[in-house]
Amino acid sequence: MKIIPLDTKHTTYQMGVTEQGFLLHLYYGSKVDCDMDYLLTYYDRGFSGNPGDVDDRTFSLDALPQEYPSCGAGDFRSPSLAVRGADGTPGCDLRYKTHRWLDGKYAIPGLPAVYADQTAARTLEVVLADPGAGVEVTLKYGVLPELDVITRCAVIKNTGSREIILDKAASVNLDFLCGGYDLIHFTGRHGMERMPQRVKLGPGSLTLGSRRGTSSHQQNPFVILADHSATEDAGACWGISLLYSGNFSGEAAVDQFSQTRLTLGLREWGFDYPLAPGESLATPEAAMAYTAEGLTALSQIYHRLIRRHVCRGKYRDIRRPILINNWEATYFDFTGDKIVDIARQAAELGVEMLVLDDGWFGRRDDDCAGLGDWKVNEAKLGGPLKDVVDRVNDLGMAFGLWIEPEMVSEDSDLYRAHPDWAFTVPGRQPVRGRSQLVLDFSRPEVVDGVFNQIAAVIDQANIKYIKMDMNRSITDVYSNGQARQHYGKTMHRYVLGVYDFLERLITRYPDMLIEGCSGGGGRFDAGMLYYTPQIWCSDNTDAIERIRIQHGTSFGYPIQTMGAHVSAVPNHQTGRITPIGTRATVAMAGTFGYELDLSLITEEEKEAVKNQIATYKRYWHLIADGRYYRLHEPGRDTEMAAWNFAAADGSEALLSAVSLDTHCNGPVTYVPCKGLVPDARYDLTPVEGSAPGAKAYKKISGAALMETGIPMPLIPGEYNAWSWAVVRR
Ligand code: DGJ
Repeated sequence: MKIIPLDTKHTTYQMGVTEQGFLLHLYYGSKVDCDMDYLLTYYDRGFSGNPGDVDDRTFSLDALPQEYPSCGAGDFRSPSLAVRGADGTPGCDLRYKTHRWLDGKYAIPGLPAVYADQTAARTLEVVLADPGAGVEVTLKYGVLPELDVITRCAVIKNTGSREIILDKAASVNLDFLCGGYDLIHFTGRHGMERMPQRVKLGPGSLTLGSRRGTSSHQQNPFVILADHSATEDAGACWGISLLYSGNFSGEAAVDQFSQTRLTLGLREWGFDYPLAPGESLATPEAAMAYTAEGLTALSQIYHRLIRRHVCRGKYRDIRRPILINNWEATYFDFTGDKIVDIARQAAELGVEMLVLDDGWFGRRDDDCAGLGDWKVNEAKLGGPLKDVVDRVNDLGMAFGLWIEPEMVSEDSDLYRAHPDWAFTVPGRQPVRGRSQLVLDFSRPEVVDGVFNQIAAVIDQANIKYIKMDMNRSITDVYSNGQARQHYGKTMHRYVLGVYDFLERLITRYPDMLIEGCSGGGGRFDAGMLYYTPQIWCSDNTDAIERIRIQHGTSFGYPIQTMGAHVSAVPNHQTGRITPIGTRATVAMAGTFGYELDLSLITEEEKEAVKNQIATYKRYWHLIADGRYYRLHEPGRDTEMAAWNFAAADGSEALLSAVSLDTHCNGPVTYVPCKGLVPDARYDLTPVEGSAPGAKAYKKISGAALMETGIPMPLIPGEYNAWSWAVVRR
């Protein structure tokens, strides 16, 4: 068997080409230096057929592990590629044609992809073909050895003379010959995104995905396959992160022979993607990682990958401005003077940027009108946008602006002029979400029209930041720009249109900081992070619920990508009252900011805000670049949530804990601190702003801190939070 190995520093990935040209997946795991085809077994399996040219009843694709299984070639498990001729000819039979190695990491035109220096990555291309069906598939692999990451995508080309239709085109397939696994996936809802679900896989299949047009609040396109025994600190686990912000599907299945298959890629339901002769489709990229060292180590690989090889632009490496957003302070009810007042108060406390949220344009005084009319409402602002921006700049603050380019209100000049720009099915009342319709971003002229309007606004003033929102799921996918309707093609092209919009924005405004948002974290995926180095993590700003949301998000995404703000109490979403120190502790495990009317807080709280800003700046290097450790799973392990950041060399750490419940005469919780040097000694100093009761500790051994930790104060009061600076002596 011809072996095609891919090696990273600690992992090996192997494929094998059989003498008939079938591309098998042999192995993905800890680094090995032998051919792994010895794992394959061949038996005559009933009801598992044999390829037509293979005169061997023990050779069946239904039982062998495959690299990119196609439909109709004898494997009855879930395919990665399902293709048919426009005349109804089913399936294809892909065989190996050739492969080659290239220096550097491939890019995918129009789609987000991991990038790396030419010397830090290599690309493998494996070409498979079925000339009879007119299908050629180039499997691309990007190998980043130092990061222990392998990326994948597939380019499917129609090499025949007739149209073919893709019913499914996955990005990745991983087959496991043996072993028992859990699937960890991340579900949720608006206001409660990315809750980890750990499910033991057994015979049958577990499917997941989104058909909402975005990656969604409900199901994130990041999954982990883990040994049953894998914990935060040990055990085999494989991650797959799909760099895509639209409809997707994933499946984890255990077959009749207890083999496991994990697939992730474009959503197959309604995919129906035609390819004319000569046309091709590149699937979104999937970034895979494996570690034998548990879930924390896996998360840290993704944190490094996304921080340095997905996020782009000036703000990838520098501290983001501490901002104040007016949304929860005013909602739609503001004037230019009110915005400047909010900025003035914030500037006095050390906040660095004012973000003007929804409501500054068109006739947008509530969420029923105005979307699509990207013209400044000067009557509301009391003058041109530039005046407000200049007044904010005069306070020493930068200025940011909210937009929602993909949407249109029926009550808007844009809709009145171009009703065909919205997704609506002829003769049917469209489904409304937040009283708005979705613009057909699969049409370049629609993207152009919206982009030009928005660029004209940005060009009016000194705007340094854009918050790009998206506030509904997509329905009525009917494109007036296409003669034939193909749901899957339109939806994929819609996502390409969104990426095109974003690429134009960052090209025209290279120093602009863009924050992604979709009703909070409804489009929090590695694809968006290629364009927006931070994403508003959730519309839920309640500190206690945010702990869970940020905890779940941290499995696949770095801390510095999570927009997190201190908001008012009682919290607007839950009504909960938490101390301002707790709200700040939680928001500091993210890109820190404020979202409340600071003129309404007490003088004591204003002092606290000044200290919080200083604290965030002091520990930014650890928060952004340190290793992040989940210590206690909020609400599950204990009634204490805890996490810490540690420098890569273990020289310092920032440890935080929040009490989630309070009891009379309760037990003491001990919280460890990870990522330290076992035989070093550390001093622990409570960080200013911590709740009462935090003690300082001197000369504690790293081993003791990592194994037993320190006792949390037992004091009355709800939702207390404490942080310690942990410094090696
Ligand atoms: C949803 C966002 O997540 C909020 O932060 C805010 O920007 C509103 N949209 C504005 O409509």
